Amino acid sequence: MTDIDLKAQRHWWDGSLIYHIYIRSFKDGNGDGLGDIIGAHEMLPYLNWLGVGGIWLSPSMPSPDRDWGYDVADYKGVHPSIGTMEELERFISTAAELGIHVLLDLVPNHTSDQHAWFIESKGNPKSKYRDYYVWAKGKGPNQPPNNWIDATGSSAWTFDEASGEYYLHNFLKSQPDLNWWNPQIHREMDEIVQFWFAKGVAGFRIDVAHGLYKDKDLRDDPIAPPEDTVNERFNLIEKYSKNQPEVHDVYRRWRNLAESYSPPRLLLGETWVDGLEGLAKFYGKNDELQMAFNFLFTFSKFDASSLRKSIAETLRHLPEGSTPVWTASNHDISRFPTRWAKGDAKKIRVALTILATLPGTLVIYYGDELGFGDEAVPPKMMRDEMTAGIPGTRFERDSARLPMSWNSSANRGFSDGDSAPWLPYRANDYQDVASQMANRNSILHYARELFALRKTAYDFRREHFALLESPPDVLYYRTGRSYVASNLSDATIIAHCDPNSIVLHSLDNTSWEVQSDTIQLAGWESVISTQELRFTF
Ligand code: GLC
Repeated sequence: MTDIDLKAQRHWWDGSLIYHIYIRSFKDGNGDGLGDIIGAHEMLPYLNWLGVGGIWLSPSMPSPDRDWGYDVADYKGVHPSIGTMEELERFISTAAELGIHVLLDLVPNHTSDQHAWFIESKGNPKSKYRDYYVWAKGKGPNQPPNNWIDATGSSAWTFDEASGEYYLHNFLKSQPDLNWWNPQIHREMDEIVQFWFAKGVAGFRIDVAHGLYKDKDLRDDPIAPPEDTVNERFNLIEKYSKNQPEVHDVYRRWRNLAESYSPPRLLLGETWVDGLEGLAKFYGKNDELQMAFNFLFTFSKFDASSLRKSIAETLRHLPEGSTPVWTASNHDISRFPTRWAKGDAKKIRVALTILATLPGTLVIYYGDELGFGDEAVPPKMMRDEMTAGIPGTRFERDSARLPMSWNSSANRGFSDGDSAPWLPYRANDYQDVASQMANRNSILHYARELFALRKTAYDFRREHFALLESPPDVLYYRTGRSYVASNLSDATIIAHCDPNSIVLHSLDNTSWEVQSDTIQLAGWESVISTQELRFTF
């Protein structure tokens, strides 16, 4: 194929590696047991060493922490428990010096019930703030307006004795939903977006991006078909409680805003949708979000045919010229080293290889680069009100939020003090950052090599990506100038190519066997080659 100009990148995020810092669990710089901005600042050299191009910082605004910052009490401040505005600004500017772009988490779907708007809305029904939230009369005595269910499995409506009306909360009771049918909410949120852009934030990860508008008539959500395990929420499909088409106007407007800055700001949506058509709509005609999380891929089965299908379908649906984004773990779901790889290091390496070589942008969750899986948190130590001990919830989110292990000391290098961490430390398995850095064959070094190769040998552009024919258990494709083959089975698979063309392989050298023009792809092994591989099958 003709030579490819790998430098023809349009924006910093195209092909970049974005690292998701769950701030409360990343690094505690002031010794109180809770991760914070000065701690994250200390770790910027590590992120730079890893090859990170962007950071998604989980919620940083003041909040009563019923949902750890996803319940915002003030959109223009910094949470005192994680730092100050000066510290955040310093974090953004030091990161920028390293070429790292910082995204904040914007939560436009709901506020905290401690937000001044809600306090007024509830306390003073005649004020203009009443209509900032979704209030409705019940269907009858003790009957909420409809069947919508919140994130804990209870009714999404809470009755307010004083006014005789219910308010809507799609998540916790303490997270009232904003009323996006009210133009004033648009004005308020536009101003907030501009406030942060002016401070130099590189963009936002937009929380519940699909959810802002609710059905105007508040119709009941339909019952979920049994086979729909991705979209099902407590047996319902969120057809009316979220996912209304009017939301697209908001993103078209914000895209214009984002592009009015130099460099343009990034809008990355948390988009839980029922299919790829729905996902593609968030890209619009490349005039809405620049990237929208693809949870259909995240929840694909970890086998070659499911992944192949998910990748092919994703690329077929997203508009031309847009950037897919691949992610496999986050703070709401099980980490991929557990969900996909069941803790098997070989499988974790295969997963990292695939994630790092797909066209588009890669978002990893802190600890993905170390192969960290979920760790059960004893019930007494759980902190997540939304999922801890709640029947029917899919996943207790605390298990994916444990403090980062920076070294193998008693406090894992997480905290500079002796305070108990807000969630328990991970088991000391010597898989921490320092131990893995000292071992050339570690997952961390492998991940770093993959990320480094991304910058030189792959290509983020979809037009230079092609899925290629291979035996059924192998996922094989060309990306830019590289060929990537992953064996997602226990069987050894023979491929023909010049062994010298292999630039990276996922198992350490002990199991690597080569002959003149043949390589053996061991069970659960990936290789990256500069030449095409030929399989006999
Ligand atoms: C998003 C966040 C999640 C939060 C919820 C409510 O799904 O990722 O952590 O609980 O929104 O804000």
